[in-house]
Amino acid sequence: MNITNPQTDISRILFTEKQIAARVEALGMELTEEYRDKKPVMVCVLKGASFFYIDLCRQMQCHIDMDFISVSSYGAASKSSGVVRLIKDLDTDITGRHVVLVEDIIDSGLTLTYLREFFGARKPASIRTVSFLDKTARHAGELKTDYCGFEIPDEFVVGYGLDYANYYRNLPYIGVLKPSCYE
Ligand code: IMP
Ligand code: MG
Repeated sequence: MNITNPQTDISRILFTEKQIAARVEALGMELTEEYRDKKPVMVCVLKGASFFYIDLCRQMQCHIDMDFISVSSYGAASKSSGVVRLIKDLDTDITGRHVVLVEDIIDSGLTLTYLREFFGARKPASIRTVSFLDKTARHAGELKTDYCGFEIPDEFVVGYGLDYANYYRNLPYIGVLKPSCYE
């Protein structure tokens, strides 16, 4: 690990704070229309989705329930371990409820597939996913999130909640991490 300064470890910025805010506002409006009378349970997948989740919930102008889960598929590496582990479950009973899973990024799609099956088994009225970012090339369109902030190329990105080894989450923008930081 060769991380130095949060700013200089970034090779380029993909989305600025302003661009993110505009996109999240638009998504919030879309979700408000869809869920206006449904009192959905908005589920934050910690920790990566945290900033996105809070900003998105703040843009929803209808009643929502807020709850948090924590999963791990990565450890401290920049490649998925292929194993999804549930670290913190929901407090809310989602049976018969409309559930919206809020994710930071879809890479291989393993986490999303696992979560949909895991929470789908509790018989919610509906279950949909919102992912802030989507590396579409990594899962060849086999799997689709219902709502997506931005599609991105297959590069390792950090900021706005996304980490490398738990660092960089507090950057206000999405940036590409220099490979020298993790190789
Ligand atoms: P998947 O299960 O392979 O789709 O991986 C999803 C998880 O891997 C995300 O929730 C992130 O925590 C992590 N991840 C995948 N790509 C990146 C990236 O470019 N930057 C930071 N984390 C990532
Ligand atoms: Mg992560």
